[in-house]
Amino acid sequence: MQDPHHRFIRTPRFLSALLFAALTVSVTACATPSESLSAGDTGTSQWRSALHYTPQRNWMNDPNGLVYYKGLYHLFYQYNPNGNFWGDMSWGHATSPDLVHWNEQPVAMYANEIEEIFSGSIVVDTHNTSGLGPANSSPLIALYTSVYKAGSGHAPGTQAQSLAYSTDDGQTWHKYSRNPVLTLDPESNNFRDPKVSWYAPGGYWLMTTVVADAHVVKMYRSDNLIDWAFLSDFSLRGIPHQGTLWEMPDLFPLPLDGDSRHQKWVMLVNVNPWSIAGGSGAMYFVGDFDGRTFTPEHVAPTGSDPSQYQWLDHGADYYAAGTFANAPDGIALTIGWMSNWDYADRIPTTPWKGAMALPRALALKTIDGMPRLTFAPVEQYASLVRERPATRIKELAVWSTAKALDPSTKGIVQNIDVTISPRSAQRAGLIVRGSASGDLGTRIFYDTTSQTLTLDRSKSGETNFSSAFSKQHIVNLPLENGKLHLTVVVDRNSVEVFADNGRAVITDLIFPAPADNRMSVFADHGEAMFSDIVVTNLSSDKPGTRPSRWRAVTGAASAD
Ligand code: FRU
Repeated sequence: MQDPHHRFIRTPRFLSALLFAALTVSVTACATPSESLSAGDTGTSQWRSALHYTPQRNWMNDPNGLVYYKGLYHLFYQYNPNGNFWGDMSWGHATSPDLVHWNEQPVAMYANEIEEIFSGSIVVDTHNTSGLGPANSSPLIALYTSVYKAGSGHAPGTQAQSLAYSTDDGQTWHKYSRNPVLTLDPESNNFRDPKVSWYAPGGYWLMTTVVADAHVVKMYRSDNLIDWAFLSDFSLRGIPHQGTLWEMPDLFPLPLDGDSRHQKWVMLVNVNPWSIAGGSGAMYFVGDFDGRTFTPEHVAPTGSDPSQYQWLDHGADYYAAGTFANAPDGIALTIGWMSNWDYADRIPTTPWKGAMALPRALALKTIDGMPRLTFAPVEQYASLVRERPATRIKELAVWSTAKALDPSTKGIVQNIDVTISPRSAQRAGLIVRGSASGDLGTRIFYDTTSQTLTLDRSKSGETNFSSAFSKQHIVNLPLENGKLHLTVVVDRNSVEVFADNGRAVITDLIFPAPADNRMSVFADHGEAMFSDIVVTNLSSDKPGTRPSRWRAVTGAASAD
Protein backbone atom coordinates (compact mmCIF):
# COMPACT_ATOMS: atom_id res chain seq x y z
CA MET A 1 0.00 0.00 0.00
CA GLN A 2 1.23 3.47 -0.68
CA ASP A 3 0.65 6.17 1.83
CA PRO A 4 -0.47 9.47 0.29
CA HIS A 5 1.85 11.58 2.43
CA HIS A 6 4.87 12.19 0.29
CA ARG A 7 5.23 15.78 1.23
CA PHE A 8 8.45 15.48 3.18
CA ILE A 9 11.29 17.18 1.39
CA ARG A 10 14.58 16.76 3.17
CA THR A 11 16.32 19.89 2.00
CA PRO A 12 14.34 22.05 4.43
CA ARG A 13 15.33 19.70 7.26
CA PHE A 14 19.00 20.20 6.49
CA LEU A 15 18.42 23.92 6.14
CA SER A 16 16.52 24.05 9.39
CA ALA A 17 19.37 22.09 10.95
CA LEU A 18 21.79 24.74 9.87
CA LEU A 19 19.49 27.39 11.22
CA PHE A 20 19.13 25.38 14.38
CA ALA A 21 22.88 25.02 14.68
CA ALA A 22 23.15 28.79 14.47
CA LEU A 23 20.48 29.19 17.15
CA THR A 24 21.73 26.59 19.60
CA VAL A 25 24.85 28.58 20.27
CA SER A 26 22.74 31.12 22.09
CA VAL A 27 20.00 28.77 23.30
CA THR A 28 22.24 26.27 25.10
CA ALA A 29 23.72 29.06 27.11
CA CYS A 30 20.45 29.79 28.89
CA ALA A 31 18.33 26.58 28.76
CA THR A 32 18.70 23.02 29.92
CA PRO A 33 19.92 21.14 26.88
CA SER A 34 17.30 18.39 26.82
CA GLU A 35 13.72 18.09 28.00
CA SER A 36 14.09 18.27 31.74
CA LEU A 37 12.07 15.96 33.95
CA SER A 38 11.30 16.66 37.56
CA ALA A 39 12.44 14.05 40.09
CA GLY A 40 10.35 10.89 39.84
CA ASP A 41 8.93 11.82 36.44
CA THR A 42 9.85 9.08 34.00
CA GLY A 43 8.31 10.77 30.95
CA THR A 44 6.28 8.49 28.70
CA SER A 45 7.69 5.32 30.29
CA GLN A 46 4.56 3.44 29.13
CA TRP A 47 6.14 3.58 25.66
CA ARG A 48 9.74 2.84 26.66
CA SER A 49 10.65 -0.29 24.71
CA ALA A 50 11.61 -3.32 26.75
CA LEU A 51 13.09 -5.36 23.89
CA HIS A 52 14.31 -2.59 21.63
CA TYR A 53 17.16 -0.16 22.11
CA THR A 54 16.26 3.41 23.03
CA PRO A 55 18.65 6.01 24.39
CA GLN A 56 17.91 7.22 27.92
CA ARG A 57 17.04 10.63 26.59
CA ASN A 58 17.11 12.73 23.44
CA TRP A 59 16.75 12.18 19.75
CA MET A 60 18.10 9.15 17.85
CA ASN A 61 17.86 8.20 14.16
CA ASP A 62 19.98 5.94 11.91
CA PRO A 63 22.07 3.06 13.25
CA ASN A 64 25.73 3.78 12.44
CA GLY A 65 29.00 1.91 12.81
CA LEU A 66 27.46 -1.53 13.37
CA VAL A 67 30.39 -3.76 14.25
CA TYR A 68 31.05 -6.90 16.26
CA TYR A 69 34.38 -6.71 18.07
CA LYS A 70 35.93 -8.74 20.89
CA GLY A 71 32.65 -10.33 21.95
CA LEU A 72 30.55 -7.16 21.87
CA TYR A 73 28.10 -5.79 19.35
CA HIS A 74 28.53 -2.04 18.92
CA LEU A 75 25.63 0.13 17.89
CA PHE A 76 26.53 3.74 17.15
CA TYR A 77 23.72 5.98 16.03
CA GLN A 78 22.69 9.43 14.88
CA TYR A 79 22.12 11.29 18.12
CA ASN A 80 21.38 14.78 19.35
CA PRO A 81 23.14 15.15 22.73
CA ASN A 82 21.36 18.46 23.23
CA GLY A 83 17.69 17.75 22.74
CA ASN A 84 14.78 15.54 21.89
CA PHE A 85 14.69 16.67 18.27
CA TRP A 86 16.89 16.23 15.19
CA GLY A 87 19.95 18.50 15.28
CA ASP A 88 23.59 18.79 16.41
CA MET A 89 24.12 15.36 14.88
CA SER A 90 26.67 13.32 16.80
CA TRP A 91 27.32 9.60 17.23
CA GLY A 92 25.67 8.01 20.27
CA HIS A 93 26.89 4.57 21.30
CA ALA A 94 25.55 1.39 22.89
CA THR A 95 27.03 -2.08 23.29
CA SER A 96 25.51 -5.51 23.72
CA PRO A 97 26.85 -8.99 24.35
CA ASP A 98 23.88 -10.59 22.57
CA LEU A 99 21.96 -8.03 20.45
CA VAL A 100 19.08 -8.08 22.94
CA HIS A 101 20.47 -6.45 26.09
CA TRP A 102 22.04 -3.06 25.43
CA ASN A 103 24.24 -0.79 27.53
CA GLU A 104 24.20 2.88 26.67
CA GLN A 105 27.75 4.25 26.44
CA PRO A 106 29.09 7.80 26.45
CA VAL A 107 28.59 9.77 23.22
CA ALA A 108 31.33 8.62 20.84
CA MET A 109 31.72 11.70 18.62
CA TYR A 110 30.20 15.12 19.15
CA ALA A 111 29.21 17.73 16.60
CA ASN A 112 31.53 20.70 17.01
CA GLU A 113 32.01 24.19 15.58
CA ILE A 114 33.44 22.73 12.36
CA GLU A 115 31.10 19.87 11.52
CA GLU A 116 28.11 17.73 12.33
CA ILE A 117 28.62 14.00 12.15
CA PHE A 118 26.18 12.23 9.87
CA SER A 119 25.83 8.51 9.24
CA GLY A 120 28.64 6.11 8.48
CA SER A 121 30.15 2.76 9.32
CA ILE A 122 32.98 1.06 11.20
CA VAL A 123 35.34 -1.74 10.22
CA VAL A 124 37.93 -3.71 12.14
CA ASP A 125 41.23 -2.87 10.42
CA THR A 126 42.60 -6.33 11.16
CA HIS A 127 46.02 -5.83 9.58
CA ASN A 128 46.32 -2.15 10.46
CA THR A 129 46.21 -1.25 6.75
CA SER A 130 45.52 2.36 7.77
CA GLY A 131 48.67 2.51 9.89
CA LEU A 132 46.56 4.37 12.47
CA GLY A 133 46.93 1.74 15.19
CA PRO A 134 50.16 0.69 16.97
CA ALA A 135 52.19 -1.98 15.14
CA ASN A 136 50.42 -5.35 14.98
CA SER A 137 47.16 -3.92 16.33
CA SER A 138 43.67 -3.95 14.79
CA PRO A 139 42.25 -0.45 15.21
CA LEU A 140 38.58 0.27 14.65
CA ILE A 141 38.13 2.67 11.75
CA ALA A 142 34.99 4.77 11.30
CA LEU A 143 34.09 6.41 8.02
CA TYR A 144 31.41 9.04 8.56
CA THR A 145 29.96 12.04 6.79
CA SER A 146 31.22 15.46 7.83
CA VAL A 147 28.58 18.13 7.31
CA TYR A 148 30.64 21.30 7.32
CA LYS A 149 29.72 24.57 8.96
CA ALA A 150 30.67 28.12 8.06
CA GLY A 151 34.31 28.77 8.86
CA SER A 152 35.31 25.15 8.27
CA GLY A 153 37.03 25.90 4.97
CA HIS A 154 34.17 24.26 3.06
CA ALA A 155 30.95 25.88 1.92
CA PRO A 156 28.38 25.49 4.73
CA GLY A 157 26.36 22.31 4.24
CA THR A 158 29.09 20.52 2.26
CA GLN A 159 29.01 16.78 2.87
CA ALA A 160 32.20 14.73 2.56
CA GLN A 161 33.53 11.47 3.97
CA SER A 162 35.85 11.61 6.98
CA LEU A 163 37.75 9.08 9.04
CA ALA A 164 38.05 8.56 12.79
CA TYR A 165 39.88 5.75 14.57
CA SER A 166 39.82 4.07 17.94
CA THR A 167 42.64 2.10 19.54
CA ASP A 168 40.73 1.35 22.77
CA ASP A 169 37.98 -0.93 21.46
CA GLY A 170 35.61 1.85 20.43
CA GLN A 171 35.58 3.87 23.65
CA THR A 172 37.39 6.96 22.37
CA TRP A 173 37.63 8.23 18.82
CA HIS A 174 40.28 10.37 17.16
CA LYS A 175 39.49 12.26 14.01
CA TYR A 176 42.07 11.78 11.26
CA SER A 177 44.18 14.90 10.84
CA ARG A 178 43.72 15.18 7.06
CA ASN A 179 39.92 14.86 6.89
CA PRO A 180 37.91 14.67 4.74
CA VAL A 181 39.33 11.60 3.02
CA LEU A 182 36.79 11.72 0.19
CA THR A 183 34.86 14.60 -1.31
CA LEU A 184 33.24 15.25 -4.66
CA ASP A 185 34.55 17.74 -7.16
CA PRO A 186 32.76 20.12 -7.11
CA GLU A 187 31.75 19.53 -3.49
CA SER A 188 28.18 18.39 -2.84
CA ASN A 189 25.59 18.95 -0.11
CA ASN A 190 24.22 15.46 -0.63
CA PHE A 191 27.26 13.14 -0.63
CA ARG A 192 26.91 10.95 2.43
CA ASP A 193 26.50 7.70 4.38
CA PRO A 194 29.75 5.75 3.68
CA LYS A 195 29.42 2.03 4.33
CA VAL A 196 32.74 0.19 4.24
CA SER A 197 33.46 -3.54 4.01
CA TRP A 198 36.39 -5.79 3.13
CA TYR A 199 36.12 -7.13 -0.42
CA ALA A 200 37.92 -10.44 0.05
CA PRO A 201 38.14 -11.57 -3.61
CA GLY A 202 40.01 -8.38 -4.55
CA GLY A 203 41.81 -7.86 -1.24
CA TYR A 204 40.70 -4.24 -0.80
CA TRP A 205 38.26 -2.10 1.12
CA LEU A 206 34.98 -1.27 -0.59
CA MET A 207 32.90 1.81 0.15
CA THR A 208 29.33 2.52 -0.94
CA THR A 209 28.04 6.07 -0.52
CA VAL A 210 25.22 8.07 -2.07
CA VAL A 211 24.62 11.33 -3.79
CA ALA A 212 21.21 11.34 -2.17
CA ASP A 213 19.32 13.76 -4.39
CA ALA A 214 20.85 12.30 -7.59
CA HIS A 215 19.60 8.79 -6.70
CA VAL A 216 22.97 7.22 -7.15
CA VAL A 217 25.13 4.86 -5.11
CA LYS A 218 28.82 5.60 -5.67
CA MET A 219 31.37 2.86 -5.06
CA TYR A 220 35.05 3.32 -4.21
CA ARG A 221 38.01 1.12 -3.27
CA SER A 222 40.97 1.62 -0.99
CA ASP A 223 44.00 -0.25 0.29
CA ASN A 224 44.36 1.78 3.49
CA LEU A 225 40.89 3.25 4.24
CA ILE A 226 42.38 6.71 3.64
CA ASP A 227 42.95 6.98 -0.14
CA TRP A 228 39.86 6.12 -2.14
CA ALA A 229 39.56 5.43 -5.88
CA PHE A 230 36.25 5.58 -7.75
CA LEU A 231 34.88 2.24 -8.99
CA SER A 232 31.40 2.79 -10.42
CA ASP A 233 27.90 4.19 -9.95
CA PHE A 234 24.72 2.24 -9.33
CA SER A 235 21.46 3.91 -10.28
CA LEU A 236 18.17 3.02 -11.95
CA ARG A 237 17.09 3.94 -15.43
CA GLY A 238 14.01 6.16 -15.18
CA ILE A 239 14.31 7.06 -11.50
CA PRO A 240 11.03 5.92 -9.95
CA HIS A 241 10.23 9.03 -7.96
CA GLN A 242 12.04 12.27 -8.61
CA GLY A 243 11.68 13.82 -5.15
CA THR A 244 13.09 10.76 -3.40
CA LEU A 245 16.43 10.73 -1.61
CA TRP A 246 18.65 7.67 -1.71
CA GLU A 247 20.37 7.17 1.65
CA MET A 248 22.36 4.65 3.67
CA PRO A 249 23.47 2.14 1.00
CA ASP A 250 24.99 -1.24 1.84
CA LEU A 251 26.39 -3.96 -0.45
CA PHE A 252 27.12 -7.46 0.83
CA PRO A 253 27.24 -11.07 -0.38
CA LEU A 254 24.92 -13.87 0.74
CA PRO A 255 24.76 -17.52 -0.25
CA LEU A 256 21.62 -18.40 -2.21
CA ASP A 257 19.58 -21.13 -0.51
CA GLY A 258 22.43 -21.72 1.93
CA ASP A 259 24.79 -22.87 -0.83
CA SER A 260 28.14 -21.14 -0.29
CA ARG A 261 29.19 -21.93 -3.87
CA HIS A 262 26.24 -19.94 -5.14
CA GLN A 263 26.75 -16.44 -3.85
CA LYS A 264 24.81 -13.34 -4.82
CA TRP A 265 25.23 -9.69 -3.85
CA VAL A 266 22.56 -7.64 -2.14
CA MET A 267 22.41 -3.87 -2.52
CA LEU A 268 20.37 -2.07 0.14
CA VAL A 269 19.18 1.42 -0.68
CA ASN A 270 17.14 3.31 1.89
CA VAL A 271 14.72 5.66 0.14
CA ASN A 272 12.78 8.60 1.46
CA PRO A 273 9.99 9.12 0.60
CA TRP A 274 8.41 6.61 -1.84
CA SER A 275 8.60 3.59 0.42
CA ILE A 276 6.13 0.72 0.13
CA ALA A 277 4.33 1.91 3.29
CA GLY A 278 4.75 5.62 2.56
CA GLY A 279 7.59 7.89 3.64
CA SER A 280 10.91 6.22 4.31
CA GLY A 281 11.75 2.55 3.74
CA ALA A 282 14.51 0.09 2.88
CA MET A 283 14.62 -1.20 -0.69
CA TYR A 284 16.94 -3.94 -1.94
CA PHE A 285 18.26 -5.38 -5.18
CA VAL A 286 19.88 -8.78 -5.72
CA GLY A 287 22.58 -9.21 -8.34
CA ASP A 288 26.27 -9.65 -9.02
CA PHE A 289 29.29 -7.60 -8.06
CA ASP A 290 32.53 -8.12 -9.97
CA GLY A 291 34.72 -5.95 -7.76
CA ARG A 292 33.86 -2.83 -9.72
CA THR A 293 30.22 -2.82 -10.81
CA PHE A 294 27.00 -4.01 -9.22
CA THR A 295 24.56 -5.48 -11.74
CA PRO A 296 21.06 -6.11 -10.41
CA GLU A 297 18.80 -8.90 -11.64
CA HIS A 298 15.07 -8.38 -12.15
CA VAL A 299 14.81 -4.59 -11.98
CA ALA A 300 11.20 -3.41 -12.09
CA PRO A 301 10.28 -1.74 -15.38
CA THR A 302 10.36 2.06 -15.57
CA GLY A 303 7.11 3.50 -14.25
CA SER A 304 6.59 0.73 -11.68
CA ASP A 305 5.11 1.60 -8.32
CA PRO A 306 6.79 0.65 -5.00
CA SER A 307 4.97 -2.70 -4.89
CA GLN A 308 7.08 -3.92 -7.82
CA TYR A 309 10.30 -3.37 -5.90
CA GLN A 310 11.66 -5.49 -3.04
CA TRP A 311 11.56 -4.17 0.53
CA LEU A 312 13.19 -5.21 3.77
CA ASP A 313 9.98 -4.39 5.59
CA HIS A 314 6.41 -3.55 4.60
CA GLY A 315 5.60 -1.51 7.69
CA ALA A 316 6.04 2.22 8.09
CA ASP A 317 8.80 2.09 10.68
CA TYR A 318 11.93 0.47 9.33
CA TYR A 319 14.56 2.76 7.88
CA ALA A 320 18.29 3.33 7.47
CA ALA A 321 18.91 -0.39 7.89
CA GLY A 322 22.44 -1.65 7.50
CA THR A 323 24.52 -4.73 8.30
CA PHE A 324 27.06 -5.49 11.02
CA ALA A 325 30.73 -5.61 10.09
CA ASN A 326 32.70 -8.62 11.32
CA ALA A 327 29.58 -10.54 12.44
CA PRO A 328 30.31 -14.01 13.86
CA ASP A 329 30.25 -16.76 11.21
CA GLY A 330 29.89 -14.10 8.50
CA ILE A 331 26.12 -13.97 8.88
CA ALA A 332 24.20 -10.91 7.70
CA LEU A 333 22.70 -9.11 10.69
CA THR A 334 20.73 -5.89 10.35
CA ILE A 335 19.35 -3.19 12.56
CA GLY A 336 16.92 -0.57 11.29
CA TRP A 337 15.69 2.67 12.83
CA MET A 338 12.09 2.08 13.94
CA SER A 339 10.59 5.33 12.67
CA ASN A 340 9.72 7.26 9.55
CA TRP A 341 10.83 10.73 8.44
CA ASP A 342 7.16 11.47 7.67
CA TYR A 343 6.47 11.91 11.39
CA ALA A 344 9.60 10.99 13.39
CA ASP A 345 9.79 14.43 14.97
CA ARG A 346 6.13 14.27 16.05
CA ILE A 347 6.06 10.99 17.94
CA PRO A 348 4.89 11.62 21.50
CA THR A 349 7.73 10.03 23.50
CA THR A 350 9.77 11.89 26.09
CA PRO A 351 12.50 12.36 27.17
CA TRP A 352 13.68 10.31 24.17
CA LYS A 353 12.62 9.97 20.53
CA GLY A 354 13.74 7.02 18.47
CA ALA A 355 14.09 3.26 18.91
CA MET A 356 15.86 0.55 16.96
CA ALA A 357 13.95 -2.39 15.51
CA LEU A 358 14.83 -5.87 16.73
CA PRO A 359 18.13 -7.04 15.17
CA ARG A 360 17.40 -9.48 12.34
CA ALA A 361 19.29 -12.22 10.55
CA LEU A 362 19.01 -12.14 6.75
CA ALA A 363 19.08 -15.07 4.35
CA LEU A 364 18.67 -15.29 0.58
CA LYS A 365 16.20 -17.86 -0.70
CA THR A 366 14.71 -18.71 -4.06
CA ILE A 367 11.04 -17.78 -3.80
CA ASP A 368 8.76 -17.91 -6.85
CA GLY A 369 11.86 -18.38 -8.97
CA MET A 370 13.56 -15.22 -7.69
CA PRO A 371 16.27 -14.69 -5.07
CA ARG A 372 14.56 -12.97 -2.16
CA LEU A 373 15.66 -11.91 1.30
CA THR A 374 14.07 -13.54 4.32
CA PHE A 375 14.19 -12.10 7.82
CA ALA A 376 14.24 -13.62 11.29
CA PRO A 377 14.69 -12.13 14.75
CA VAL A 378 18.23 -12.97 15.85
CA GLU A 379 18.75 -16.35 17.50
CA GLN A 380 19.62 -14.71 20.84
CA TYR A 381 16.10 -13.24 20.94
CA ALA A 382 14.53 -16.56 19.94
CA SER A 383 16.35 -18.34 22.77
CA LEU A 384 15.22 -15.70 25.27
CA VAL A 385 11.65 -16.47 24.19
CA ARG A 386 12.17 -20.24 24.43
CA GLU A 387 13.50 -19.98 27.99
CA ARG A 388 10.36 -18.41 29.40
CA PRO A 389 7.04 -19.99 30.34
CA ALA A 390 4.33 -19.64 27.72
CA THR A 391 0.59 -20.07 27.23
CA ARG A 392 -0.04 -22.68 24.56
CA ILE A 393 -3.29 -23.25 22.70
CA LYS A 394 -3.27 -26.21 20.34
CA GLU A 395 -6.32 -25.38 18.24
CA LEU A 396 -9.03 -22.77 18.32
CA ALA A 397 -11.79 -22.52 15.71
CA VAL A 398 -13.52 -19.15 15.40
CA TRP A 399 -16.70 -18.51 13.41
CA SER A 400 -17.66 -14.93 12.45
CA THR A 401 -16.65 -13.51 15.79
CA ALA A 402 -13.79 -12.33 17.97
CA LYS A 403 -12.60 -14.51 20.85
CA ALA A 404 -10.62 -13.16 23.79
CA LEU A 405 -7.80 -15.52 24.73
CA ASP A 406 -7.13 -16.83 28.21
CA PRO A 407 -6.17 -14.09 30.72
CA SER A 408 -2.70 -15.65 30.94
CA THR A 409 -2.06 -14.23 27.46
CA LYS A 410 -2.44 -10.68 28.75
CA GLY A 411 0.73 -8.70 28.26
CA ILE A 412 2.33 -5.64 26.80
CA VAL A 413 5.73 -7.12 25.95
CA GLN A 414 5.32 -10.49 24.34
CA ASN A 415 6.21 -12.90 21.59
CA ILE A 416 3.31 -14.57 19.81
CA ASP A 417 3.55 -17.51 17.45
CA VAL A 418 0.45 -18.62 15.60
CA THR A 419 -0.59 -20.50 12.49
CA ILE A 420 -3.73 -19.15 10.86
CA SER A 421 -5.87 -21.19 8.47
CA PRO A 422 -8.38 -18.62 7.21
CA ARG A 423 -10.58 -21.36 5.66
CA SER A 424 -13.98 -19.84 4.76
CA ALA A 425 -13.45 -16.55 6.60
CA GLN A 426 -13.09 -13.40 4.58
CA ARG A 427 -10.62 -12.08 7.13
CA ALA A 428 -8.88 -13.82 9.99
CA GLY A 429 -6.33 -12.54 12.43
CA LEU A 430 -5.39 -11.36 15.86
CA ILE A 431 -5.70 -8.25 17.95
CA VAL A 432 -2.80 -7.35 20.22
CA ARG A 433 -2.62 -4.65 22.89
CA GLY A 434 -6.43 -4.75 22.95
CA SER A 435 -8.58 -2.80 25.39
CA ALA A 436 -10.97 -4.38 27.91
CA SER A 437 -13.96 -3.11 25.91
CA GLY A 438 -12.61 -4.71 22.76
CA ASP A 439 -12.83 -1.40 20.88
CA LEU A 440 -9.12 -0.70 20.72
CA GLY A 441 -6.15 -2.75 19.61
CA THR A 442 -3.68 -3.34 16.81
CA ARG A 443 -5.16 -5.73 14.26
CA ILE A 444 -3.05 -8.13 12.21
CA PHE A 445 -5.15 -10.05 9.72
CA TYR A 446 -5.18 -12.04 6.51
CA ASP A 447 -7.69 -11.17 3.80
CA THR A 448 -8.54 -14.21 1.71
CA THR A 449 -10.00 -12.21 -1.20
CA SER A 450 -7.02 -9.94 -1.76
CA GLN A 451 -4.53 -12.54 -0.44
CA THR A 452 -2.88 -9.89 1.67
CA LEU A 453 -1.63 -9.52 5.22
CA THR A 454 -2.48 -6.22 6.92
CA LEU A 455 -1.37 -4.47 10.06
CA ASP A 456 -3.99 -1.93 11.06
CA ARG A 457 -2.97 0.55 13.75
CA SER A 458 -5.89 2.94 13.28
CA LYS A 459 -7.23 2.00 16.75
CA SER A 460 -3.90 1.24 18.40
CA GLY A 461 -3.90 4.18 20.85
CA GLU A 462 -2.56 7.66 20.13
CA THR A 463 -2.47 8.21 16.39
CA ASN A 464 -3.34 11.84 15.83
CA PHE A 465 -0.02 13.47 16.71
CA SER A 466 0.68 13.62 12.95
CA SER A 467 -1.59 13.40 9.93
CA ALA A 468 1.24 11.50 8.21
CA PHE A 469 1.06 8.65 10.75
CA SER A 470 -0.31 6.13 8.24
CA LYS A 471 -2.82 3.61 9.56
CA GLN A 472 -2.66 0.40 7.51
CA HIS A 473 0.24 -1.48 5.99
CA ILE A 474 -0.38 -4.31 3.61
CA VAL A 475 1.70 -7.01 1.93
CA ASN A 476 0.74 -9.48 -0.80
CA LEU A 477 1.22 -12.97 0.55
CA PRO A 478 -0.40 -15.99 -1.12
CA LEU A 479 -1.08 -18.77 1.39
CA GLU A 480 0.90 -21.99 1.35
CA ASN A 481 -1.35 -25.03 1.92
CA GLY A 482 -4.06 -22.65 3.15
CA LYS A 483 -1.97 -21.60 6.16
CA LEU A 484 0.02 -18.62 7.36
CA HIS A 485 2.53 -18.71 10.19
CA LEU A 486 3.18 -15.49 12.09
CA THR A 487 5.72 -14.53 14.74
CA VAL A 488 4.62 -11.28 16.33
CA VAL A 489 6.92 -9.29 18.60
CA VAL A 490 4.91 -6.90 20.73
CA ASP A 491 6.60 -4.20 22.76
CA ARG A 492 5.31 -1.16 24.64
CA ASN A 493 5.72 0.99 21.57
CA SER A 494 5.83 -1.33 18.55
CA VAL A 495 4.64 -4.42 16.74
CA GLU A 496 6.83 -6.47 14.39
CA VAL A 497 5.14 -9.19 12.36
CA PHE A 498 7.37 -11.85 10.77
CA ALA A 499 5.15 -13.67 8.29
CA ASP A 500 5.56 -16.98 6.55
CA ASN A 501 9.00 -17.86 7.94
CA GLY A 502 10.33 -14.38 7.45
CA ARG A 503 9.21 -13.97 3.85
CA ALA A 504 7.71 -10.59 4.77
CA VAL A 505 7.92 -8.35 7.81
CA ILE A 506 5.69 -5.49 8.93
CA THR A 507 7.16 -3.16 11.56
CA ASP A 508 4.99 -0.41 13.01
CA LEU A 509 5.15 1.91 15.99
CA ILE A 510 2.09 2.07 18.23
CA PHE A 511 1.21 4.26 21.21
CA PRO A 512 -1.32 2.28 23.28
CA ALA A 513 -2.50 2.85 26.86
CA PRO A 514 -0.62 0.58 29.29
CA ALA A 515 -3.88 -1.03 30.41
CA ASP A 516 -4.56 -2.26 26.87
CA ASN A 517 -2.96 -5.65 27.30
CA ARG A 518 -5.52 -8.11 25.91
CA MET A 519 -5.11 -10.51 23.08
CA SER A 520 -7.87 -11.96 20.92
CA VAL A 521 -8.34 -13.72 17.61
CA PHE A 522 -11.12 -13.13 15.11
CA ALA A 523 -12.72 -14.36 11.92
CA ASP A 524 -15.01 -12.24 9.72
CA HIS A 525 -17.77 -13.81 7.59
CA GLY A 526 -16.83 -17.43 8.00
CA GLU A 527 -14.68 -19.86 9.94
CA ALA A 528 -10.97 -19.70 10.63
CA MET A 529 -8.72 -22.06 12.55
CA PHE A 530 -5.89 -20.83 14.76
CA SER A 531 -3.36 -23.47 15.72
CA ASP A 532 -0.18 -23.83 17.75
CA ILE A 533 -0.69 -20.49 19.47
CA VAL A 534 2.23 -19.79 21.81
CA VAL A 535 2.14 -16.54 23.78
CA THR A 536 5.27 -15.77 25.78
CA ASN A 537 5.32 -12.79 28.08
CA LEU A 538 8.71 -11.13 28.15
CA SER A 539 8.23 -8.51 30.83
CA SER A 540 5.89 -7.63 33.66
CA ASP A 541 3.20 -5.05 32.89
CA LYS A 542 4.89 -2.47 35.06
CA PRO A 543 5.92 0.46 32.86
CA GLY A 544 9.65 0.79 32.50
CA THR A 545 10.60 -2.77 33.43
CA ARG A 546 12.79 -5.03 31.34
CA PRO A 547 12.64 -8.80 30.88
CA SER A 548 13.91 -10.40 34.09
CA ARG A 549 17.35 -11.26 32.71
CA TRP A 550 17.79 -7.70 31.55
CA ARG A 551 18.82 -5.99 34.74
CA ALA A 552 21.44 -8.53 35.63
CA VAL A 553 23.07 -8.19 32.25
CA THR A 554 22.76 -4.49 31.54
CA GLY A 555 23.39 -3.17 35.03
CA ALA A 556 23.42 0.56 35.58
CA ALA A 557 23.02 1.75 32.02
CA SER A 558 19.63 0.14 31.45
CA ALA A 559 17.37 2.66 29.80
CA ASP A 560 14.83 2.85 32.62
C1 FRU B 1 19.04 9.01 6.92
C2 FRU B 1 19.85 10.28 7.02
C3 FRU B 1 21.23 10.08 6.44
C4 FRU B 1 22.03 11.12 7.15
C5 FRU B 1 21.40 11.13 8.52
C6 FRU B 1 21.36 12.47 9.18
O1 FRU B 1 17.99 8.96 7.79
O2 FRU B 1 19.20 11.36 6.39
O3 FRU B 1 21.28 10.20 5.03
O4 FRU B 1 23.39 10.79 7.18
O5 FRU B 1 20.08 10.66 8.37
O6 FRU B 1 20.91 12.40 10.50
